[in-house]
Amino acid sequence: MALSPTASRLTQSEVPAGRPIPTLVEDVEAGLLTPPRWLPPKYFYDDHGSRLFEAICDTPEYYPTRTEAALLAACSKDVIDQVRPGHLLELGSGSSRKTRYLLDACSQLGVQPVYWPFDVSAQMMLDAGAALVEQHDWLNVHALIGDYSGGLAQLPLPDDGRRRLIVFLGGTLGNFEPPDAVAMLREIAALMKPGDGLLLGLDRVKDKARLEAAYDDAAGHTAAFNLNVLSVLNRELDADFPVEAYRHRAVFDEPRARIEMRLLADRAHTVCIGALDTRISIAAGEQILTEISRKFTRPAIDELLTAAGLSMRSHFEADGGDYSLVLAGADPRA
Ligand code: SAH
Ligand code: AVI
Repeated sequence: MALSPTASRLTQSEVPAGRPIPTLVEDVEAGLLTPPRWLPPKYFYDDHGSRLFEAICDTPEYYPTRTEAALLAACSKDVIDQVRPGHLLELGSGSSRKTRYLLDACSQLGVQPVYWPFDVSAQMMLDAGAALVEQHDWLNVHALIGDYSGGLAQLPLPDDGRRRLIVFLGGTLGNFEPPDAVAMLREIAALMKPGDGLLLGLDRVKDKARLEAAYDDAAGHTAAFNLNVLSVLNRELDADFPVEAYRHRAVFDEPRARIEMRLLADRAHTVCIGALDTRISIAAGEQILTEISRKFTRPAIDELLTAAGLSMRSHFEADGGDYSLVLAGADPRA
């Protein structure tokens, strides 16, 4: 049988939001104009920010990527065999660097799902999709370009009776505030029928020094990633944040079990935001909260699943409980 050319096995579509979501201007109006100042983390991921994230993943301090990769290398065959998916939907797929373990397991088991990566960062996703169709001659990739905070119900996955495996890796759910994380998991559960699976990567609570080092690597990639959001604002909103006046901070808040990434202004200054036709005054020592990254205990994972109407099917954990990969099903009682 002639193989279809790789180009025709990679398609893409833009996913419209299924509900109103704030624009960048609205997010800046809501979070940045007055203290306490904050920004949603999705604005990190322009092309440059996505490349910086990849560099973070390769630093010796940032253990989540290699730990999750090792877990996936060990458990992918089991996961694929349990679900035998016809569709593999990945939220926040980025470079899909770890998805290849699942796709390799599919190849070994003769399971041939359509792969649906879904990400705001289009170029990174399309480059990854092109590489994956080259590597797997059976694979069709349909890249979904959009913002998952706009909902999941409108994704163009066919309701064709084939099982779905939804994957959400990297601990990205930890970047959501607790109620938003539960709401996100509930939306995922609503896409699932009996037999479908959710494979969820969650980082675990551990030693504060190790956690803080993971978010402040010696090579400075995390600092550059954090500071890059100011360049995004300058470009997209015709603003003039003096990037050199800010310092990267990453602190583990133990009571809340979360890393907080902040940008600290080391001198007083005024910023003009052209798109809002406004000026803001930032005092020396003021901070902008740019990301939270929650870390979970094992009981907290059980509580999270229960709150979202999901039930644990398998739990894979790295040595010493550094990281968890959970295979969950939608709980029929929910
Ligand atoms: N899953 C990959 C990448 C994690 S980085 C891994 O484990 O290494 C987080 C990814 O989520 C980035 O690719 C980013 O572009 C994407 N992302 C962040 N916020 C998003 C949003 N609101 N909607 C869609 N994708 C988002
Ligand atoms: C994507 N997300 C899970 C990463 C994290 O660890 O919270 C983003 C990141 N921020 C700094 N380093 C990595």
